[in-house]
Amino acid sequence: MSARIFSANEISTNKIVERILQGLLVAIPTETVYGLAANATDEKAIKKIFQLKNRPETHPLIVHIAPPISEQSVESFWETKLSEWAHDVPPEAILLAKQYWPGPLTLVLKKAKQVSNMITGGQETIAIRAPKHPWTIEILRAFNGGLVAPSANRFGRISPTTAQHVLDEFQDSETDHELMILDGGDCEVGIESTILDLSRLDQIGPIILRPGMILESDICTTLGLKKLGQKDNAIRHSGGILGHYAPHTQLVSMDVSQLRVEDIGNQKVAIVTFLDVDTLKNKLAISSIDWIHIPLDPHAVAKKMYQLLRDLDQKGYQKMIVDVLPSGIEWSGIQDRLTRAVYGSGTH
Ligand code: TXA
Ligand code: MG
Repeated sequence: MSARIFSANEISTNKIVERILQGLLVAIPTETVYGLAANATDEKAIKKIFQLKNRPETHPLIVHIAPPISEQSVESFWETKLSEWAHDVPPEAILLAKQYWPGPLTLVLKKAKQVSNMITGGQETIAIRAPKHPWTIEILRAFNGGLVAPSANRFGRISPTTAQHVLDEFQDSETDHELMILDGGDCEVGIESTILDLSRLDQIGPIILRPGMILESDICTTLGLKKLGQKDNAIRHSGGILGHYAPHTQLVSMDVSQLRVEDIGNQKVAIVTFLDVDTLKNKLAISSIDWIHIPLDPHAVAKKMYQLLRDLDQKGYQKMIVDVLPSGIEWSGIQDRLTRAVYGSGTH
């Protein structure tokens, strides 16, 4: 594997597009997490994504497309663009695209005939989103096509929110692929897009398959609905696997205000909490604890969460404890990732 990080002044957009057209992989910055991108019409290149991530080929990929250049005729722009990948595109998709794209929302639609089964994992649906990072938008416009891009991490591991994370994930890969990693800075949102299934509107309505920072309430407002449909098991999606986003160190979630000295013993532990750290230090005077304070702000927590889990995972703790999250809907995406990280942690 050869992998290298490039900053925007080290490589031109044309060169990047050239590499994509040669069937090489490029790690791209998006507002959510970094993606491992390939030309969505090049099956050989798509295969490399699965090899490098060690991802089963049955797990479908999201196609990334560019947003319109001007505000004019946005609706017909999205109708045309979505029809390249999907058929029977419902008006709901256009409303949502208009409202949230470019941005952290993925729409699942009925796939167009010509879309490769390698993208959809053999399913009859296709997932699409227009990401917001300006560099990636520029590349998508110059490329003038779709890029498939899963999160640029090994299957089941924590998603990357910096270019360095991507390098850390793959530099020891034994494949002979070449990877160009574009450094677009820290991801703004920090967790993956909300995935909304619009492919079975007539039967069960719109369904959130993966919660994110665009909330069920936001989608209901845009579509004029009271509530969305309920998720069932008819669709496979890898975010649906419980042990995802898994750190190596054991991770537990508990109410830190209830923590007692005997819960810790003399273990080397990191505790991530919303509470005042000085007060806790006085209450639990244990020197083997490292305290990390996080704000009661879901956007700030989402932005830093994966970075924090990665950093703590490097430090040789016996355990990481994360405070219980508030129950509000704005925490649902973070809660989803944390639950999976807890479940999958400590097994490697
Ligand atoms: O924010 C994101 O969505 C990031 C950035 C890079 O865009 N991408 C991302 O991709 O999270 P990935 O492959 O790590 O997760 C995509 C999820 C998977 O759970 C996959 O199963 C699901 O989307 N998915 C893809 N196509 C689908 C489809 N046709 N139906 C249902 N789920 C689908
Ligand atoms: Mg992923």
